Amino acid sequence: MAEEAILGYLANNEVIGDSGEFAAKHGLNHDEVVNVIKSLHGFRYVEAQRESWVLTDEGKLYADTGSPEAQLFLAIPPEGGIPREELQIKLGPLLFKIGCAQAAKNRWVDMGGQQVTRRVQHVDDRVKDLLLKIKEGQVVDQDDIKALKARKLIVPQTWKGYSLKKGPDYAPQRKKFAADLTREMLQSGDWKNVEFKEYNFNAKGQPIEAGHLHPLNKARICSSVRHQLRMIFLQMGFEEMPTDRYVESSFWNFDALFQPQQHPARDSHDTFYLKVPSTTKELPEDYVERVKCVHESGGYGSRGYEYDWSREEANKNLLRTHTTAVSARMLYNLAQDTLKKPFTPKRYFSIDRVFRNEAVDRTHLAEFHQIEGVICDRGLTLGDLIGVLHDFFSRLGMSKLRFKPAYNPYTEPSMEIFSYHEGFGKWVEVGNSGMFRPEMLLPMGLPEDVRVIAWGLSLERPTMILYGYNNIRDLFGHKKPFTPKRYFSIDRVFRNEAVDRTHLAE
Ligand code: PHE
Repeated sequence: MAEEAILGYLANNEVIGDSGEFAAKHGLNHDEVVNVIKSLHGFRYVEAQRESWVLTDEGKLYADTGSPEAQLFLAIPPEGGIPREELQIKLGPLLFKIGCAQAAKNRWVDMGGQQVTRRVQHVDDRVKDLLLKIKEGQVVDQDDIKALKARKLIVPQTWKGYSLKKGPDYAPQRKKFAADLTREMLQSGDWKNVEFKEYNFNAKGQPIEAGHLHPLNKARICSSVRHQLRMIFLQMGFEEMPTDRYVESSFWNFDALFQPQQHPARDSHDTFYLKVPSTTKELPEDYVERVKCVHESGGYGSRGYEYDWSREEANKNLLRTHTTAVSARMLYNLAQDTLKKPFTPKRYFSIDRVFRNEAVDRTHLAEFHQIEGVICDRGLTLGDLIGVLHDFFSRLGMSKLRFKPAYNPYTEPSMEIFSYHEGFGKWVEVGNSGMFRPEMLLPMGLPEDVRVIAWGLSLERPTMILYGYNNIRDLFGHKKPFTPKRYFSIDRVFRNEAVDRTHLAE
C-alpha cells in the first residue's frame, strides 16, 4: 500500500518533502513508509535524503519579504540612482549593510560614486525562492544549502523521516526481480534479460538446528566462561572427568591425597559433613590399606606422618571441598588400568561445584565451582607445569604470570599462581598448582617414573577478573539479581501405595 502510494505520487510529482507528512496525509504508518523508502532506494527507484533543513527566524523573514539584496535592488530607482544615506534610511541600517554586501557580490549594483545605481535591469531573488522551497520540504542543491547555511538562514533539523525524489530507475510500478538464477534461465538464455535482486549481506541466516544447553546450566552465570574454559581444555587435548559426585567420602577427598587426619581443613568448621548417610559403604580395600600405611609409617622413601590412622574418619561422608577428589579417583582408575595394559599418558580436566563451610563475603562463597587440570606422563618436571600454566592462562587472556612457593599436603613442590591484572594494576592470585607427591601416586599403583602435574582454580575468580565484577555474590548465590526463568523436570517419584491396575509405588 505504502509502495503504491509513494510510486503513484511520484508519477505526478518530483519530490516528497517529508515522509512523515506524506504518511499522515495518506493515512499510512510512517514506519512502513520508511521501510518502503529504504527498499525503493536500494533499487534506485527513489533518491532518499535523511538530512532536512528548517528556516531560521531571519530565513523566514526573507522568505516572506525577499532577500536583503533584492530589497536593496528594488529600492534603487531604475533611472539615476539614489544617494547612499537616503537608501540606508529607506532600508534600515542592518538590511542596508547585508543588502549592499550581497548585491555588490552579485554585481547587481554600483556603489562607487555618490549615487548607488543599478547595473542590471532585472534580478531574480534566488535566495527567497530557495528559502520557500526548503520551507516546503523540497530537495535543494547541496551548494545552495551550504551558502544558505553560511548566511545562517537555515539550520539542520534532527529528523526521523526522509525526503525523496525520483531516482534513475524510477518506474510507476516496481519490476519483479529474480531472486535465484535458475537452470531454466541458463538454458533459455533468459538470464541476460532478467534483473536480479541485490544481495542483502545484513540478512540473518536460517536458524541452525542444534542441541541446547540444559536450563540449569544455562541459568548459572559463569556458563559462558565455563564453556570458554572447556574449549580451551579440549583444544589442549584434555578429556573431561566425571564430576557427578557432590557427596564424597573423606577417603577420596583427603586421605587418598595424603592429607593427614588432623589437618585443619578437615575440621567441620571448614568442611560440610553429611548426617545421612554419614559414612561411605565401599572403598577399595587393598588400596585403603596402602593409604593407611603411608599415613602411619610412610614407605616409597617417605616417613609418613607417624600417627594412628582411623578408618572411621576416612569413611565419613562430606560435600567435596575440591575437585582434586575427582582427580584422585581418576588417577586410581588409571593405575588400575596399568595392571591390565601398558600405561598411556593422560590429560584430564573438570569444571564443577565444590563446597566449603566458609563465612560468605565479597570474595568467598560456601559453594563455588572449581576448575582443575591434571597431566600424567613419564618424566614430567616443574618446568612442564610452568609451561602448561602459561599456555592455559594466556588462552584465557592472562599472559603475565608469577609463581610463589606454597604448601599442599598432596603436592611438592606447590605453587600459587598470580596474574597481573592491567585493570586493577596489580598482581592477583588466580590459582594453585603442584606436582603430586609420590606418597599419593605410588600407593595407587602408578608406575614409579610417572609424574603428575596439576592445577586448580575457582571458576568465579577468572570470571570476576575477566568481567570486572568485584563482588562474587553478583555472580552466584542468593544475592545474584533475580532474572525470570522457566524450568522443567521429568523424573521418578515414590509413594507408599497399594499397587493395583492403575497405581504403582513408583
Ligand atoms: N585442590 C587445590 C585447591 O582446592 C587446587 C590444586 C589442584 C592444587 C591440583 C594443586 C594441584 O585449591
